[in-house]
Amino acid sequence: MRRLRKDKMRPLFRQTRVKVEDLIMPIFVDENISSKKEIPSMPEYYRIPVKDVSDEVGKAMELGIKAFIFFGIPKHKDELATSAYDDDGVVQRALKNVNKDFSDAILITDVCLCEYTTHGHCGIVKDGVILNDATLPILEKIAISHAKAGVDIVAPSGMMDGMVGAIRNALDRSGFEDVAIMSYSAKYASNFYSPFRDAADSKFTFGNRKSYQMDFHNSDEALREVELDLKEGADIIMVKPALAYLDVIKKVKETFTVPLAAYNVSGEYAMVKAASKLGFLDEKEIIYEILISIKRAGADLIITYHAKDAAEIL
Ligand code: PBG
Repeated sequence: MRRLRKDKMRPLFRQTRVKVEDLIMPIFVDENISSKKEIPSMPEYYRIPVKDVSDEVGKAMELGIKAFIFFGIPKHKDELATSAYDDDGVVQRALKNVNKDFSDAILITDVCLCEYTTHGHCGIVKDGVILNDATLPILEKIAISHAKAGVDIVAPSGMMDGMVGAIRNALDRSGFEDVAIMSYSAKYASNFYSPFRDAADSKFTFGNRKSYQMDFHNSDEALREVELDLKEGADIIMVKPALAYLDVIKKVKETFTVPLAAYNVSGEYAMVKAASKLGFLDEKEIIYEILISIKRAGADLIITYHAKDAAEIL
């Protein structure tokens, strides 16, 4: 269009914008370290010791980031993920510290078993099979324990059927009606998660996650998963990964009117970092374009490891 050839007019016609308030920054809290440790498969991303988490949040808040999602790397792992609901566990301690220093930070926690189990799966395992229903009471305990430590939003990520309803009931019964739920509703069994499993030390020791995560050949299934989660009481829904799943984001956004988060996952981050380091891509330009494309597809919120860089770019 000839009228739009003047560069200075472009902002006036822009449909999509990313705001720093749209971003959610992941934080890996590790109980086993005393100084921050770079994650090999995620250059310039770190595991943070419990004592430094508040500092990390503070620095991000100075850049305008308001929301954080916490993942824990515990000292103790067992078959039943008991350290995940220890009131003195790694995430619980981190939450208490951050709450003390930054009461206006929005604290979100990943609610799952995989970082806390010896086998690395997201559910209770018996005879090599992941047991859906036996996992629900554990997820309830984790959510309540995070709520006691001051979480604002719990984010169940294990794709167990009925997890949202179970957690909602448990929170309400315990007096935590005001804790919201962001459900990893449409989470695909994706190859893009492998750097995360390094980061969170949650590699599984047998099998795969295909019995509970979605098949990436399907997209209608995402709508069914979202619908179930909404019926069970989810406040925010999520599509994960983001970049190779923009069509799913769009489809979900066109069907439902609730806030939609997209998870720009570890593998997407690693690709950008690797190519930038080799000088093949301009990192800042690529980050911006990726975030815009996720928003353009329909996401309201973006969980991204680029949060701090993005905050500086925006
Ligand atoms: C835990 C969980 C995973 C991610 C977020 N929560 C890993 C998995 O399902 O294997 C992946 C995040 C990423 O790759 O950035 N269930």
